[in-house]
Amino acid sequence: MAGGGMVTTGEVKHFEGKATVYVVLTCILAACGGLMFGYDVGISGGVTSMNDFLAKFFPNVLANKLRSAQTSNTYCQYNDQKLQAFTSSLYLAGLVSTFFASPVTRRYGRKPTMLIAGLCFCVGVIFNAAAQDLAMLIIGRVLLGWGVGFANQAVPLYLSEMAPTRWRGGLNILFQLAVTIGILFANLVNYGTGKMKHDGWRVSLGLAGIPAGLLTLGGILLPETPNSLVQRGKLEDGRKVLRKIRGIENVDAEFEDLILAAEESKRITSPFRNLMLRRNRPQLIIAFIMQFFQQFTGINAIMFYAPVLFQTLGFQSNASLYSAVITGAVNVVSTVVAIVVVDRAGRRILLLEAGVQMFISQTAIAIILAVGMKNGVSLSHSLGVVVVVLICVYVSSFAWSWGPLGWLIPSEIFPLEARSAGQSVTVSSNLFFTFVIAQAFLSMLCAFKWGIFLFFAGWVVIMQIFVILFLPETKGIPIEEMEVVWTRHWFWKRFVPDAPILDHAGIPTTDDTKKSNNLKPATTNGADNGYHNNHDAPQQA
Ligand code: BGC
Repeated sequence: MAGGGMVTTGEVKHFEGKATVYVVLTCILAACGGLMFGYDVGISGGVTSMNDFLAKFFPNVLANKLRSAQTSNTYCQYNDQKLQAFTSSLYLAGLVSTFFASPVTRRYGRKPTMLIAGLCFCVGVIFNAAAQDLAMLIIGRVLLGWGVGFANQAVPLYLSEMAPTRWRGGLNILFQLAVTIGILFANLVNYGTGKMKHDGWRVSLGLAGIPAGLLTLGGILLPETPNSLVQRGKLEDGRKVLRKIRGIENVDAEFEDLILAAEESKRITSPFRNLMLRRNRPQLIIAFIMQFFQQFTGINAIMFYAPVLFQTLGFQSNASLYSAVITGAVNVVSTVVAIVVVDRAGRRILLLEAGVQMFISQTAIAIILAVGMKNGVSLSHSLGVVVVVLICVYVSSFAWSWGPLGWLIPSEIFPLEARSAGQSVTVSSNLFFTFVIAQAFLSMLCAFKWGIFLFFAGWVVIMQIFVILFLPETKGIPIEEMEVVWTRHWFWKRFVPDAPILDHAGIPTTDDTKKSNNLKPATTNGADNGYHNNHDAPQQA
């Protein structure tokens, strides 16, 4: 998952530098930001399936659960808006905090933003682990949500700025890998604490303090990125840090590049206005819709609620938590597959293959539940095993497609003029749709019963059509040359100018100021400025 605001300068350059201790620390830090997010995703389902947690905060749900064990209403046993709010409040808070995190990251740097995230996490964990009533629990979740908003903005950006260029691409998916490890870690913790007689949930919620504490420590100890220092005018500090992290004395070439990038980014004064320009419509639509689709694969029905779901199907508490560990592990391993394959096979093929796999597994699960759970009778042991296997098939396909690519593609399609704004839209719309699923899933399960899996399978069909018709392949295309994918696309080409605008040096540019100062069309016809109408023409920021 990537945060906003990365600035790149177009040409493919290679700078000197070793893999220093600082860079390794950076990776560990990434793991903590991602782990923390993943831990929050994975922990709530296990906790809400624990009876003493329900007895303390949601006695109605517990009564309903015990009652429905004897009736045919098992699909509705967890249907409770407040219980869902326990999970979803984090994402709503994360969504709101993204709007604050973005300017803080820009104005004050990545380091203070991470520190704020770490502190929010720590206080949130204390509220959660010590919770005496529902209010404390929700306040804790909201604080964790603020942490997620700040961490998801700053950490990926910090990583991409600290890492040597050759590591940059892989780090995008590595952050997602850290998220999946966090989910698995939470599943394992729940499996352990589920066996405790009392207050296992406090341990589950409290152990989030480990990644939270580490992130806070990182926010205090790690250096600010040279990019951010240079951008804020602290040139000498920037040079010093660059020397330190690259482990060499002569960093002039990279330093100059940073200064250029900082100047360029200063000229982009209204990224949100740029984002709304007609020529950026394809990217905006794709980034937004990919977040909707990612969440409407139904993945978080599993990630948030797997233990609850498995109990609904008649698994014992222990087996439910154990099954969640299995799906969590499949999620991690399959994300590694994405890292290996994505730049070889491409994005579209991964999405299309996964779509078929998701559709088949979801439909098969629906059929098994429809047939095997008649009148509320639990699934037989063998059918239960088949359902777990099918959920693993489903999770694996998500983990090498919509999981990482839902973040990777939006982070690589926006032109520089709208990149930071595009990322903010990506992060906030993702958190919004995550919130929707978290708040609605248990009620939908109650209303649709086994049909919930057909509901998500239906969306998968629509996603397939979208990928086939509207999603161009972005594999191997340099980020600053992405324009060609739109100009060549049968549908999106109507939104973009025919040819790129060149500056005096003949380099295609998307920077507004350059365009209006040095307008020089790429076409040989001097009368044509390369734009179809005034609508498309760049605006002076
Ligand atoms: C999604 C999360 C999801 C996770 C599962 C991420 O890409 O954004 O909502 O929980 O994948 O691994």
